[in-house]
Amino acid sequence: MAGAGGNNASTFNWCCQASRYGSDTVSWYGSILMNAVQDNGKSIYKSVREGHQSRLGAAAQHEDIFTPEELVVGGWEIDNRKATLFAALAQNEIVSPDMIGKAQNDTEFLAGVYNDAFITLDASRLRGDVMTPRNFTLSDQLDVVTSDIDKFAATHELDEIVVMYSGNTEISIDTSDQPSTICELDAMIKSDKQDVIPPSCVYAIAAARASTSCMFVNTAAQNTLSQGLIALFDERGRLAVGRDLKTGQTRLKCVLTEYMTRVGIPLTSIASHNTLGNSDGCKLRPPRNCQSKLNTKSSMTTAIEKTNTLLYPPSESHTGGIEHMVNISYVRSHGDDKRAYDEYDATLMFNRPFSTITRMVCPDTLLAVPILLDIIVFLMCLGGTRGMHCRSATALLALFFKDPIKLESPFFSAQYNTLMTAVCK
Ligand SMILES: NC(=O)c1ccc[n+]([C@@H]2O[C@H](COP(=O)([O-])OP(=O)(O)OC[C@H]3O[C@@H](n4cnc5c(N)ncnc54)[C@H](O)[C@@H]3O)[C@@H](O)[C@H]2O)c1
Repeated sequence: MAGAGGNNASTFNWCCQASRYGSDTVSWYGSILMNAVQDNGKSIYKSVREGHQSRLGAAAQHEDIFTPEELVVGGWEIDNRKATLFAALAQNEIVSPDMIGKAQNDTEFLAGVYNDAFITLDASRLRGDVMTPRNFTLSDQLDVVTSDIDKFAATHELDEIVVMYSGNTEISIDTSDQPSTICELDAMIKSDKQDVIPPSCVYAIAAARASTSCMFVNTAAQNTLSQGLIALFDERGRLAVGRDLKTGQTRLKCVLTEYMTRVGIPLTSIASHNTLGNSDGCKLRPPRNCQSKLNTKSSMTTAIEKTNTLLYPPSESHTGGIEHMVNISYVRSHGDDKRAYDEYDATLMFNRPFSTITRMVCPDTLLAVPILLDIIVFLMCLGGTRGMHCRSATALLALFFKDPIKLESPFFSAQYNTLMTAVCK
């Protein structure tokens, strides 16, 4: 995990270890894989496991879908207060101090890559050993991170690695400046273009280049996966997916907008307000970082309009589609509580208004952690499917990301059914 000491990554790491050492405190509530059942009452986990075995075929019958206890989690961290797992857990205060010891292994995280053009960390908090544009070229950073991945695999005797960017939201790159082919990507690396290759891309490129079989997931809101990067993963026969986790407010939006559209009620506007008091919220304060998040949070309304041309006629007479306003504020005293307030305005017959208001308060991290497990397991499952490319994997995993590079439906049930059909027996 890049950002291994963060709220999500460190809590996820703790949960995997606590599961391994027999703690009954980890329910994984919120994980489709661990807790949901299909219509026939069969657990999703069992179904996925059987589906995976049959896909891998007779030659690989011993291969199985793993359980969280079997995962080994490590990674890179740039903040000196979170250089080890136990220090990060103590700092983040998601897992209570008396429970921290239930994870048996403290892990020292690697230093990783930092570029203050993309996110800003207080200089006094930056680890002295991070790689920055001042002391490492892109090629050197890539050599180190690639070798970190292969060493980790060798030390823990792993067949497969998922590199997950769980760092803070970087500033997004203008798409016209991003590499659109592998050649352009190589040229940018050669000429050390650190202004358009942010750290999240360095982790991704290293995942594509590592000798160990590797996949990549971007959980943050910036547009890490350029066309050039996707081409690189496709060429290597590896999967790279994701842009911004879909954990709470946007997920509920996929359910409510589906309901309104399916019952034939046109939405006129969605106004979304969020407050966050955790480290993630704090790092979103600079306007250009926040813009990355606003982009992914706002991206669904055009897709909704396309699902029903009776409600949303594409003609000129239509008054501009669903208006979507999103705002995000940082309120330190709210801590890890995510507070979301959404107003859905729609129209009934005789032009009479219909409004729905939702309010959600919950620990942000505890929404995300079970979803990280789902992403990893389902991704590995798709990775074992012959002929799978990044775009198709991304479309299948749309349930978990706000702005997948390819979106077939903006609605929850369609996204859920598509995934289940692909991975369950
Ligand atoms: N519900 C959710 O938690 C949720 C939902 C959607 C998206 N996300 C995204 O997931 C990511 C992680 O969220 P979080 O709450 O754990 O954030 P966090 O701030 O608690 O953790 C991020 C960690 O990444 C580290 N980091 C930043 N840049 C790094 C780099 N280049 N290399 C290594 N480490 C780096 C930071 O020091 C920090 O410890 C964020 O981008 C967030 O926007 C989270």
